[in-house]
Amino acid sequence: MAAAPSPLGEPLVRREGREKVTGAARYAAEHTPPGCAYAWPVPATIARGRITALDTTAALALPGVHAVLTHLDAPRLAAPGDRTLAVLQDDRVPHRGWYVALVVADGLETARAAAEEVHVSYEPEPHDVRLTPDHPGLYEAELANGLYPGTRERGDFEAAFAAAPATVDATYTMPPLHNHPMEPHASTARWTHGHLTVHDSSQGATKVRDDLAALFGLGPDDVTVISEHVGGGFGSKGTPRPQVVLAAMAAQVTGRPVKLALPRRQLPAVVGHRAPTLQRVRLGASREGDLTVLAQEVTTYTCTVRGFVEGAAVPARVMYASPHSRTLHRVAALDVPSPSWMRAPGEAPGMYALECAVDELAVHLDIDPVELRIRNEPDAEPDSGRPFSSRHLVECLRQGADRFGWLPRDRRPALRREGDLLVGTGVAAATYPYVLVGGSAAEARAHPDGTYRIRVNATDIGTGARTVLAQIAAAALGAPEDHIRIEIGSSDLPPGVLAGGSGGTASWGWAVHKAATALVARLREEPGPLPPNGLAATADTYQEAAATSPYARHSFGAHFAEVQVDTVTGEVRVRRLLGMFAAGRILNPRTARSQLIGGMTMGLGMALTEDCELDPVHGDFTACDLASYHVPVCADIHGIEVHWIDEDDPHLNPMGSKGIGEIGIVGTAAALANAFWHATGIRLRDLPLTPDKVL
Ligand code: MOS
Repeated sequence: MAAAPSPLGEPLVRREGREKVTGAARYAAEHTPPGCAYAWPVPATIARGRITALDTTAALALPGVHAVLTHLDAPRLAAPGDRTLAVLQDDRVPHRGWYVALVVADGLETARAAAEEVHVSYEPEPHDVRLTPDHPGLYEAELANGLYPGTRERGDFEAAFAAAPATVDATYTMPPLHNHPMEPHASTARWTHGHLTVHDSSQGATKVRDDLAALFGLGPDDVTVISEHVGGGFGSKGTPRPQVVLAAMAAQVTGRPVKLALPRRQLPAVVGHRAPTLQRVRLGASREGDLTVLAQEVTTYTCTVRGFVEGAAVPARVMYASPHSRTLHRVAALDVPSPSWMRAPGEAPGMYALECAVDELAVHLDIDPVELRIRNEPDAEPDSGRPFSSRHLVECLRQGADRFGWLPRDRRPALRREGDLLVGTGVAAATYPYVLVGGSAAEARAHPDGTYRIRVNATDIGTGARTVLAQIAAAALGAPEDHIRIEIGSSDLPPGVLAGGSGGTASWGWAVHKAATALVARLREEPGPLPPNGLAATADTYQEAAATSPYARHSFGAHFAEVQVDTVTGEVRVRRLLGMFAAGRILNPRTARSQLIGGMTMGLGMALTEDCELDPVHGDFTACDLASYHVPVCADIHGIEVHWIDEDDPHLNPMGSKGIGEIGIVGTAAALANAFWHATGIRLRDLPLTPDKVL
């Protein structure tokens, strides 16, 4: 067999693209088994307290209503590790929007109408949802993002800061932000002879399967979770969410298949969000711009149900050489909905603050901000002292500057005026860790007709996972890419990690590579015609995933932005945004570009449009739908350009790939905020930069 040319690195179109644009691709709520009922949840209308009474009579009296589940009669679940999944188990209300009942009916509108007829009485308790810099409940978090040390100190920060010839001391804030994937969290569940099958909109069906099995006291083989197509998640579907538990319960109680798609307006309270942050950054440097001291102190909240700390000070440990450093997280547990992962949790808000502070230092020292960053490039990872497996931040800054036309640039602000508009440019750096979230397993099978089948429980959350896995398999098999069938998106397949931490392709792809390589060896050892069902090989990467690397492994990037500020309306518009990245080997330039543009678009929203707050009286988010929570639309995002440097890094995985799902959002907001300063001469540190703040 002559090996086909490797398709790795080729811009193949995504395999399921046609299915998606023609509507043939089915999402979790688009499965309607015979007899399927519809569910609608009832959220709590107090911010803290107890349910004292529930009256479901009127709801149950409506024609077509099958059941109303409450904590009084819902199936008892085993205690979950993630207590946001302990739905309808007791009378406690830990935050506003917590589910207190679930209506199941023949039709969606009936369920919705009946939900209005569920009358709940509460005994409210005083609540607190207000994050302040001096909140009495603040404590130093032990862990940031459940993973990193909460606090790191090097040298003597106080003394070094006091002695620094040039300093910046500034506080940056960001409101709560919401994931709002286009497809809401949705599940269709059915029980057949004790076996639970769920179509769930999830970033990782294996984890959903395991959690459901534990909650319902089943073996893993008694549960199948299918996440065939997923319309975005951005972290909010990285772990199971209440809807999948509720749908399974409702199907159990009613004996029918049950479909539950969470209403958009309920998402902010139950699927996680990016917690707000107040970030004080202090930088000290020599007059020549050598950083001597760096501190980033993050104040944020968590909820009372499940701990999560937005690790915003973590990327500072990777970025710049400075002998004295302090990075820490202070957190208070408030009566708020559970914060969780949202695209680049930690890095996205953290690099906003840090990269704005670096810009402020550059202004203070009158040094070009590209040059200031290059001057402070570390030889090894500042936090750990480990060598970088590869780091091309300087190249990203230099090549990005060239492509953008950064120079010549008059560093003085508020000089470029075009009628009512002020125009400016800004830069910021980006970083995101290479995370092998865990090991995956895969099966590769050769069929007698010359085709191959790859099975792995990967998830396509809109990334084009099928396509890139086919490329990886084709390269390892030496087979044409169109001879390879990819099966993903079901917990019945060999287990895969979730699509998260920008680590899906590295983990699944490695397992696929290994299985395909093993298959090639097997085919060589057993020549001759294949049996009718072909020959297969399996492999997993559990050992590889558990191994620690002696290297600090991160992606890097640089953003360049040009904005215009309307001095009459206060509107900030992006003219150009250019991202230059170094993220290992880019396996598919077409899908990679989409990922990076998507991340930058989300960063643009973070900088300019996405805004929300918690109403202290009612404990409710003020912007719960897409009419009030403004994500960028096409008219906001023309002029986004993406480039990369192909890195050859042998310390990653057989493909040489890092992750690309999240780095696009990191640093975008800082580049825009820095461009806003350059346009206007005004430093606004509280995102988003909406007209009310600008004027
Ligand atoms: Mo991503 S926030 O790691 O799903």
